[in-house]
Amino acid sequence: MTSPVRIAVTGAAGSIDYSLLFRIAAGEMFGKDTPVILQLIEIPPAMEALEGVAMEIDDCAFALLEDMILTDDPEKGFDGANIALLIGGKPRGSGMERADLIRANGPIFAEQGKALNAVAADDVRVCVVANPCNTNALITMHNAPDIPNEQFSAMTRLDENRAKSQLASKAGVPVRSVSNMGIWGNHSNTMYPDFFNAQIDGRPVSEVIDDQRWLKEEFISTVQGRGSAIIEARGSSSAASAANAAVDHVRDWFSTTPEDDWHAMAVKSPGAYGVTEGLIFSFPVRCDGEGNYEIVEGIELNDFAREKIEITEQQLLEEREVVQDLLS
Ligand code: NAD
Ligand code: LMR
Repeated sequence: MTSPVRIAVTGAAGSIDYSLLFRIAAGEMFGKDTPVILQLIEIPPAMEALEGVAMEIDDCAFALLEDMILTDDPEKGFDGANIALLIGGKPRGSGMERADLIRANGPIFAEQGKALNAVAADDVRVCVVANPCNTNALITMHNAPDIPNEQFSAMTRLDENRAKSQLASKAGVPVRSVSNMGIWGNHSNTMYPDFFNAQIDGRPVSEVIDDQRWLKEEFISTVQGRGSAIIEARGSSSAASAANAAVDHVRDWFSTTPEDDWHAMAVKSPGAYGVTEGLIFSFPVRCDGEGNYEIVEGIELNDFAREKIEITEQQLLEEREVVQDLLS
């Protein structure tokens, strides 16, 4: 057994966390040899519901769960945290875009960034899930100036998983056949799922799926619109698949990505591929097994891809304008 990982999770009485916390405590994020301490953060009106969730976690008798802290005080909740999953915030409803949540959710991340800065462990890794997650991550990062920028991310892994599933289904292969599925830009209706560089059983996707029209139009719009389609069908936004993506995101941040593959993570742009420096932008990344990532270099982007990437970059620049006052 290694020493326990302190995992702080906000929105702990909410829908995503109801699918997530049990998987973390079962060892799916850090493996069966790593004990975990769950630091569960909510707002005061949800504390009673959180007590109920905690009772259920207790009743699972998870062998790896060393301790559980329940709080509505971010400074207590983030104290010593090695991982911070920022999930708490309003979800959108039918007919809304994720960016419509920006002024309601944005201030949460200014407060939580400050709290992380004050009390989190030096090695904390932050993953923002609450929408609009790229811009919320930007706000968090700006409010935590003592934490290296490379320790912040926003979650676009759900989009990677959705894209892989769509390609696998079209090609009639298992999802594990699909690799190198990059998502570029914003977790929004402008994200660019890059099928040109994705592979199926090691071959370029467009060799296996000989249907450029489907790839350029239906595939991209299905991935971009999947969140809305789920809201229309379920009446509420994705929860179990989002929790699954959060497990994948953190597990793979601390795993060694094979040299011939990559994953999607929204991270601070260093200006790579001409994307405005400083935006939280989804790139294809590889991780080193110790909580560090590198943006994959040398990916070929044709005019079609560059045009899509500019659209999603422009949208992130506009979102940044709207929250200028929160970027201290
Ligand atoms: P939910 O409404 O079921 O739960 C949200 C929880 O957050 C609630 O329990 C609420 O009390 C809590 N909360 C609100 N403000 C808080 C704060 N300041 N501190 C701590 N907790 C707070 O919503 P959900 O379905 O769990 O979704 C949560 C967020 O995740 C939404 O913004 C949603 O849009 C987003 N989301 C993102 C992705 C992604 O891929 N990035 C996927 C699905 C959902
Ligand atoms: C998703 O992609 O399912 C989430 O971001 C929820 C939403 O609002 O679409």
